[in-house]
Amino acid sequence: MTRGRFITFEGGEGAGKSTQVGLLVDWLRDRGVSVVRTREPGGSPGAESIRDLVLNGPPERWSPTTELLLMYAARADHLERTIRPALAAGSWVVCDRFADSSRAYQGFAGGIDTVFIEQLDTAVVGRDQPDLTLVFDLPVEVGLARALERGGGESRFESKGAAFHQKLREGFACVVADHPDRCRVIDATGDVDAVFARVRAAVEVIAP
Ligand code: TMP
Repeated sequence: MTRGRFITFEGGEGAGKSTQVGLLVDWLRDRGVSVVRTREPGGSPGAESIRDLVLNGPPERWSPTTELLLMYAARADHLERTIRPALAAGSWVVCDRFADSSRAYQGFAGGIDTVFIEQLDTAVVGRDQPDLTLVFDLPVEVGLARALERGGGESRFESKGAAFHQKLREGFACVVADHPDRCRVIDATGDVDAVFARVRAAVEVIAP
């Protein structure tokens, strides 16, 4: 059985990632690929329980260190229960956020030491790194306006202010610079079809 491919979507708030995840999953299935769609934090029953803990409540509810450990606890369960079994069965996994969000949010924006994050990542993710990571990029004001328009109230992260989100954007740019082999920047400005054309072009390189 050939191992499936692992594709992750990353970026700041309001970049339109979730819509694009749905379009990519449909496009791959039309091409006969078996796909598991998932997300972080979450993607398995245990990790979804951790998601409720970490995303709800006031911004200062968790320190960046605790937040990081909760994210990696959720990630360990998600890998064990969902991602590794799917890849081993030959399915592709398309995941809305993964470890690069920890690097950008808890690392660059939250101030956690990157050496500590990479130690955790080696222990928890190990060799199961994504084959391809699409990093959605757009100006902070546009992303926050889109995230607010989407409604449903602000999450702990959306309420952190423009300076935090600017830092995040820089954080994701650093992630791309550190992992040029697997990361591709997707210009997230423009309409859904224009953005999906960019996503497809990036995925076609590894698609069957
Ligand atoms: P989302 O589902 O709307 O993208 O919300 C998930 C939030 O969790 C988002 O604000 C980013 C944040 N997050 C982290 O801070 N670190 C992580 O490792 C992950 C996966 C998400």
